[in-house]
Amino acid sequence: MNNTSVNNITVNNITAQELSALTDGVPHLIANLANTAALLFDKLEDVNWAGFYILQSDTLVLGPFCGKPACIEIPVGKGVCGAAVKQGRTIAVENVHEFAGHIACDSASNSEIVVPIRKDGKIWGVLDVDSPVTGRFSDKDIAGFEEYGRIIESFVKRG
Ligand code: SME
Repeated sequence: MNNTSVNNITVNNITAQELSALTDGVPHLIANLANTAALLFDKLEDVNWAGFYILQSDTLVLGPFCGKPACIEIPVGKGVCGAAVKQGRTIAVENVHEFAGHIACDSASNSEIVVPIRKDGKIWGVLDVDSPVTGRFSDKDIAGFEEYGRIIESFVKRG
């Protein structure tokens, strides 16, 4: 494997290139979201759930994902996903069991990152990735996931 640096940042960078190649010029939103979830789930180490929640009014609704079946609706402000929307920023949780209001969809999850995705300047939804490893998402990983977020925004704005 080509992961020569710490905290999987190399893995993340390679996947960002693959994500661009996979979704560039594809005019189908659901296909792009589904392939993005599949790519991240397949390529990233120590990930047990990867997918999307899409904002409808003040509720996040489950979108394409890979992993165990998950909760369908998350109100803005609830859970890690709802907190990321309310605060309008990426939230990386080192230990989900210490995050007040965390919504447990898979008991294997111990850490989580949620990246808001914007369309026309407003939050459209979130990318949500869970890990069984406590502290899985380092500051370098956060930069990598925000890079995924920019690629996702580039196809969301087409859809
Ligand atoms: N843990 C999330 C809920 C979604 S699952 O992780 C797939 C949260 O607290 O918002």
